[in-house]
Amino acid sequence: MVSKYRFAESEIYLPGTDIPRNQLGITDPEVLHGVEAELLSGAFELFVQELDDSVVFDEAYFKALHHRSFEALYEWAGLYRTVDMGKGDSLFCRAQFLDQESGRIFGELAKEDYLRGFRSATVDSFANRLAYYQCELIALHPFYELNGRITRLFFDLIALYNGYRPIDYSHALTGEEPNAYIKASIACVQSAECEPLEKIILQGLKRV
Ligand SMILES: Nc1ncnc2c1ncn2[C@@H]1O[C@H](COP(=O)(O)OP(=O)(O)OP(=O)(O)O)[C@@H](O)[C@H]1O
Ligand SMILES: [Mg+2]
Repeated sequence: MVSKYRFAESEIYLPGTDIPRNQLGITDPEVLHGVEAELLSGAFELFVQELDDSVVFDEAYFKALHHRSFEALYEWAGLYRTVDMGKGDSLFCRAQFLDQESGRIFGELAKEDYLRGFRSATVDSFANRLAYYQCELIALHPFYELNGRITRLFFDLIALYNGYRPIDYSHALTGEEPNAYIKASIACVQSAECEPLEKIILQGLKRV
């Protein structure tokens, strides 16, 4: 079993806590959460403004989303972790294989033209591919923190590009079934099963 302690030991956290050291010296988790939320929503607006036909949803773009959103707060913004990490009973991709695995995932995504061709496809086929890649990135868990939020934002931008709204996960994060997203993530990490996540995405995917 991978305990919380194991990654709380990492140097990025304030000793004995799961609060990351940050450039604003914030130690209150609620304050930090609020700052992260503001940075993320400001960055999201900018990324949406920048969305056009020249955008390539590759690894550099994915890292840049994390970097540009959180560089004011965290030194490790946009950088992949160098320590092994897990949550609950799940162990994410070993740090030593992160670059290789990320290369494989984004290589597959490139072969599907970064999912840029789903404007006139069925919503089911789009949800299937979004879920496959989101599952892979959930199991990768490449950053120290903010993986969930940046991964969802990445797929929101792909959805917007294809004429959809940002994916609504609220039913699976806070709403009717607040544990559904975590359960689906566990299926991704522990059994490489994307179906639970696909259902969540399909429910939250609406055309503009
Ligand atoms: N027990 C678990 N097993 C597998 N994956 C998990 C587990 N708990 C959480 N996850 C995944 O890890 C993500 C959280 O990672 P992290 O804390 O780096 O990101 P975050 O943006 O801070 O979190 P959140 O997604 O909760 O907003 C979740 O979104 C989920 O996909
Ligand atoms: Mg977190």
